Amino acid sequence: MTTVEQLQLDNIAKNDHQIYPLLKQRYSPRIFSKQELTKNDINRLFEAIRWSASCYNWQPWRFIYAHKGSEGYDKIMGCLSEFNQKWAGNAPFLMLAAYKEKNPEGEENFHALHDLGLSLGNLTVQAEYMGLGLHHMAGVDWKKAQKVFNVPEGFHISTAIAVGYYGGDLNDLPNELQDQEKAERTRKPQEEFAFEGSWK
Ligand SMILES: Cc1cc2nc3c(=O)[nH]c(=O)nc-3n(C[C@H](O)[C@H](O)[C@H](O)COP(=O)(O)O)c2cc1C
Repeated sequence: MTTVEQLQLDNIAKNDHQIYPLLKQRYSPRIFSKQELTKNDINRLFEAIRWSASCYNWQPWRFIYAHKGSEGYDKIMGCLSEFNQKWAGNAPFLMLAAYKEKNPEGEENFHALHDLGLSLGNLTVQAEYMGLGLHHMAGVDWKKAQKVFNVPEGFHISTAIAVGYYGGDLNDLPNELQDQEKAERTRKPQEEFAFEGSWK
């Protein structure tokens, strides 16, 4: 039987070149410890987001968050895809990530989604440092979420994120997802996405 400790070891990136240990050990879990996030944990996570780089320092990211057991949490769960609902309830903490679509001059901010992603990169490293795993989800009905949470015009929900301390039990997942959780992590080779001097 695979223990969660074994799973964490198996999921360590089989990197071809040396990388920062926090990035090496990061993966997207679908099981989590039941340990709750404290107010201080949450402040530390958002502080990492706060200090992200962004185009003209416009800081277009916005978040809605909720603890398991709260109405907000159930509302976020209700916006997730059927697939994500099978496992996301294992997380003690859920977030919705959104970005502001326009810049202060009222023009489309082409880089807003870039900056939201960058802030989530900061969040990833901070979370990993604290022993927390993140699992991003595109499988969220963003139109429903915008309505449910009265998101003002001009903001766009992009993803949901499950957050929790690494841990939990594989039996917290349905069988087919247990196999997925244990599946080998793969990546494209660098040559497929990094080109020197010209496009390929
Ligand atoms: C923007 C984004 C959306 C994702 N959407 C989902 C999702 O809806 N459901 C899910 O189970 N995983 C989702 N994932 C997780 C990816 O499948 C995962 O990051 C990828 O397979 C690589 O695995 P790793 O993060 O463990 O390295 C998403 C990841 C990102 C970054």
